[in-house]
Amino acid sequence: MGRLKNTVLNIELKPKKRKDVKIFWEHSRDPQLKELFPFEDISLDEAYDIFDRHLSDESSYFERSIYVNGGYVGDIWCYSIDEKNREGYLSIVIFDKNYWDKGVGTEATKQFLKIVFKKYHLDSIKAYTYQSNIRSLKCCEKVGFKISKTFKKDGVTSHLLSIRKSDFLLLFNEERSSGSGSSI
Ligand SMILES: CC(C)(COP(=O)(O)OP(=O)(O)OC[C@H]1O[C@@H](n2cnc3c(N)ncnc32)[C@H](O)[C@@H]1OP(=O)(O)O)[C@@H](O)C(=O)NCCC(=O)NCCS
Repeated sequence: MGRLKNTVLNIELKPKKRKDVKIFWEHSRDPQLKELFPFEDISLDEAYDIFDRHLSDESSYFERSIYVNGGYVGDIWCYSIDEKNREGYLSIVIFDKNYWDKGVGTEATKQFLKIVFKKYHLDSIKAYTYQSNIRSLKCCEKVGFKISKTFKKDGVTSHLLSIRKSDFLLLFNEERSSGSGSSI
């Protein structure tokens, strides 16, 4: 559950529907969002192709849509899932700006990490964010991510953040799932 002043928000993660590909793609062209997230410049047809490819192979990519009070507001996904090296990378975009700074990103990330750490044999999850994206940094830190590296590429400073499965489970008092593959 998240919060909106005194109102409780019902935050749910659901499998992404094909009809939501267009909605997300349209928002991905928003200049403000483009400043915060490095969207690839792709056509709608390419977006559908990528969606279909990911559906057929959940071994290295796993995605959920974020719903608030029944409405679709964004996506959260894990990419480059590598069970051999036991790591994966997280991204999240809430395209509905009405729901920024209300705890939705933090709650969605918590729910998503629980699913991902249960589903895959991973010891840690990493995430990139621009240094200027304070909202994203705060959201990650509230879930337990820590900055592991700060670097500059093409004149833009970014952070690489990381969270270990063991730290996440300790932080949120979750039972360790059996056969999780955690080395800790
Ligand atoms: C990044 C994103 C997922 C975060 O989700 P969110 O629901 O807005 O985040 P939360 O409300 O859970 O947490 C944001 C925190 O940042 C804080 N914050 C926002 N702007 C801030 C600022 N300028 N200075 C300090 N803190 C700030 C908020 O107050 C909040 O902290 P609090 O709960 O302690 O008050 C969402 O804003 C989003 O999708 N943005 C656009 C795309 C994006 O940036 N994606 C991530 C790229 S890696």
